[in-house]
Amino acid sequence: MDRLKDKIILITGAAGAIGSAVAQAVVREGGVAVATDLAGAPGVDLALDVTSEGDWLRAVAALEARAGRLDGLVNAAGIATLGSVEDTDYATWKRVMAVNLDGTFLGCKHAMKLLRRRGGSIVNLSSVSGLVGGHNLAAYNASKGGVRLLSKSVALHGARLDPPVRCNSIHPAFIEGPMVDAIVARTRNAEDARARMTRDIPLGRFGTPAEIAALCVYLLSDESHFVTGAEFAIDGGLTAR
Ligand SMILES: NC(=O)c1ccc[n+]([C@@H]2O[C@H](COP(=O)([O-])OP(=O)(O)OC[C@H]3O[C@@H](n4cnc5c(N)ncnc54)[C@H](O)[C@@H]3O)[C@@H](O)[C@H]2O)c1
Repeated sequence: MDRLKDKIILITGAAGAIGSAVAQAVVREGGVAVATDLAGAPGVDLALDVTSEGDWLRAVAALEARAGRLDGLVNAAGIATLGSVEDTDYATWKRVMAVNLDGTFLGCKHAMKLLRRRGGSIVNLSSVSGLVGGHNLAAYNASKGGVRLLSKSVALHGARLDPPVRCNSIHPAFIEGPMVDAIVARTRNAEDARARMTRDIPLGRFGTPAEIAALCVYLLSDESHFVTGAEFAIDGGLTAR
């Protein structure tokens, strides 16, 4: 119950399915969760639009004043859109890149100032869509592939620091929650789409936010001290074939 004892962890997208599960798990493991999301989102300690550099600077300054340190960062804010390269309009492309990739970049960049003081761990939410492509995921694939390699660059930089800052990426397949519900709702036959997606997963079911949170706890904790620059598929076997 104290795998994250006294660790201060900032979570973006903490009103979402995965972010809120991570925030709960951090508290359950004895840590302090700083839950952030868009202004007005439920259960949030701090409003933080991840696409706004000003918001990041304010959040880091607030944490510095309050605690003087940060031990972990989970970049969970994200949006998903369906669209092939031909039918994704440029505005949608830029919005997806802004939230998923720019937001993760800004988080790693600005939180580093506090993380490097005592060493720490960054967990970036990529996706199986950051490992394998889909014909109708042009913007999402590009953004999540970017998160995958950004994480490795951050890990290599963080490894040169003393004490080090670790950084790893997580690659979930379909996780129960509003993101998958919205994608399924946009298809012609939602029931068929859900059945097809389930069939794609060798374990025969969607994942749960709690399962992603459990992996985050491991990566944020001292149990994973020698783990950095790694990518974790948590996908019921989807990318094994
Ligand atoms: N749900 C899945 O199946 C799945 C699979 C693979 C990867 N992921 C990734 O995991 C992460 C979390 O997904 P989720 O299932 O919790 O989604 P979700 O839709 O439940 O939550 C996403 C959260 O991000 C917040 N958000 C959106 N734009 C933001 C911004 N500009 N600034 C700050 N917050 C913003 C939303 O308000 C929301 O609370 C995302 O990066 C997603 O791409 C999800």
